[in-house]
Amino acid sequence: MAPTPPATAPAGPGPAAPPQDEARQALDRFDRAVAAETRIEPRDWMPDAYRATLVRQIAQHAHSEIIGMQPEANWITRAPSLRRKAILIAKVQDEAGHGLYLYSAAETLGVSREELLDRLHSGRQKYSSIFNYPTLTWADVGAIGWLVDGAAITNQVPLCRCSYGPYARAMVRICKEESFHQRQGYELLLALSRGTPAQHAMAQDAVNRWWWPSLMMFGPPDAESEHSARSMAWNIKRHSNDELRQRFVDICVPQAETLGLTLPDPELRWNEERGHWDHGPIDWEEFRAVLRGQGPCNAQRLEQRRRAHREGAWVREAAAAYAARHGAGGGTPAGPEGR
Ligand SMILES: [Fe+2]
Ligand SMILES: [Fe+2]
Repeated sequence: MAPTPPATAPAGPGPAAPPQDEARQALDRFDRAVAAETRIEPRDWMPDAYRATLVRQIAQHAHSEIIGMQPEANWITRAPSLRRKAILIAKVQDEAGHGLYLYSAAETLGVSREELLDRLHSGRQKYSSIFNYPTLTWADVGAIGWLVDGAAITNQVPLCRCSYGPYARAMVRICKEESFHQRQGYELLLALSRGTPAQHAMAQDAVNRWWWPSLMMFGPPDAESEHSARSMAWNIKRHSNDELRQRFVDICVPQAETLGLTLPDPELRWNEERGHWDHGPIDWEEFRAVLRGQGPCNAQRLEQRRRAHREGAWVREAAAAYAARHGAGGGTPAGPEGR
């Protein structure tokens, strides 16, 4: 009697591998792509934790761009000349654009813009703590451009080589515009520094207030940075917080000298052995307090953002109605249903 085949045949050498093997192969392919510096694109398989890390980082970056419009927008109506006003309007508008590129990049990971904005408005996602400080004088516009946009560039240039394609490509354009922002701030401070004694004092006061918060923009010291190691292994992050902070200090010290302004740190010293500038201790307690929502402007920034979103509802509705009417000829509306 011929043996009857078993009801369920064991998996042979055919094309269908067991699911756990497929998952392992997908992970291997992903790891190899990251190691070979090949970009990961939206349709490629990626580990859930990689996707979640990117969503969090890109969303917080996008939120920072749009909240970052507020401190400077405060000075548009009071800019001292038509030229300064035109420059500042262009700069603030650029920041809105950066927010839009970044929300679009986050959407490629399968999360909607509505959901991301909701996370910002409900306080579930953060934005850069620097934007919780007030802009007290016109010189603050210069200090923000020189120091805050300067720190942003130092942080963001390495992100142009980030392993996730849409984020890396957005950063290339953003960095070009940030470079203009940094220069306009530097030029503004130079004009004030070389102006009347009162203007010089105003520039110095702005630098005194913005220097330390700018150093905090690089995040906590390496030893306390919870996401750093994994982000570096995935080629999302290329340098540690402390490395980038050091790079920024080394760039700023000679620039401050040219500006004729001092940096408010009596411990700044050239370290011949390290080939870098040593700086004094950073007040991490202040940083943590601002992160907890206890900075000078946290409540005001978030309330203004919520109000802008509420008051802009009719624009979103009109745009959606227009897109629905002209959708066939003019493309589909951007959003989860349009992808
Ligand atoms: Fe920006
Ligand atoms: Fe900027």
